[in-house]
Amino acid sequence: MTIQEELQATIRELVQPGKGVLAADESHPTIAKRFKAIGVESTEAMRQEYRSIIFSAPGLGEHISGVILFEETLEQQNLDGVPMPELLAGQDIVPGIKVDQGKGPLAHAPNEEVTFGLDGLEARLSAAKELGARFAKWRCVFHITESLPSELAIGANAETLARYAAICQSLGIVPIVEPEVLIDGAHSIERSAEVGEQVIRGVFDTLNLHRVNLETMILKPSMITPGKESPKASPEQVAEMTIRTYRRCVPAAVPAIFFLSGGQTPEEATANLNAMNQYADLPWTMSFSYGRALQEPAQHAWAGELANRGAAHQAMARRARLNGSAALGSYAPEMEQEG
Ligand code: 13P
Repeated sequence: MTIQEELQATIRELVQPGKGVLAADESHPTIAKRFKAIGVESTEAMRQEYRSIIFSAPGLGEHISGVILFEETLEQQNLDGVPMPELLAGQDIVPGIKVDQGKGPLAHAPNEEVTFGLDGLEARLSAAKELGARFAKWRCVFHITESLPSELAIGANAETLARYAAICQSLGIVPIVEPEVLIDGAHSIERSAEVGEQVIRGVFDTLNLHRVNLETMILKPSMITPGKESPKASPEQVAEMTIRTYRRCVPAAVPAIFFLSGGQTPEEATANLNAMNQYADLPWTMSFSYGRALQEPAQHAWAGELANRGAAHQAMARRARLNGSAALGSYAPEMEQEG
């Protein structure tokens, strides 16, 4: 297979009707925060136990086409000694890898951040590919205030996303490009739309400059919602604003938009995605690449006890199934009451 054929094959496997991606790539500090919320200490053994459990939920592959892993997990085996990428492949799930190395202050841009990890990226991606990773993820973060994000922060972060995406494609790895506009704040949905458009325009300008092939990448943006300290918008409003915004700035050549959940509750994230999939003639497949909104119920069901494995499987499979329905536009809130 040529590199181009390899990229196309991975896109075909990731972008399927009624399927989305599970983001299980929390860095050590982030997973420690999630575990703390359920009273569990984050040790390597506990992370292995938890992730082994969620990845082996029966039927997961019916609704999940890919899982994003943190580098530690890519090298781990499950509780029965099966390498994690093999465990996922057994469920028809494509393994992927988070390759950014977190974020920190952007010089001369007060209160803004830039993502790290370009140094040595090619070697890390090649090593991850050897271990089975076929796609990757890189996340940049933008804060909304009255005056932010600045052009400087948009430009600097877009440059990292574009260089990352180009390196991925040169190695036959599909890049998931994640410019996250944070939900924090009391801004309106209109302000969120304004910033969303500005950020995504900046990102695609830079992707084009770096000759990133749009047909073999996936965009992972935030939905357009009001800030979390503002009154919530209905799924219909979120869908309308999100689609209007991204129609203006996401080229139709991009095969799929897989949203992050960004602090929405599991039910909100599902209802919002479902409302988007009520629209006909969308230029892209619209699905999910959720972390918290997919995993929260499974984390609570597990609660650090192997004996709760069955309940955790059920919770994981259930959220995957509901989001799979939302990706087809066939979810209804009443389905939350079903077993
Ligand atoms: P959330 O869905 O919890 O926002 O996580 C998605 C993700 O991959 C963040 O980088």
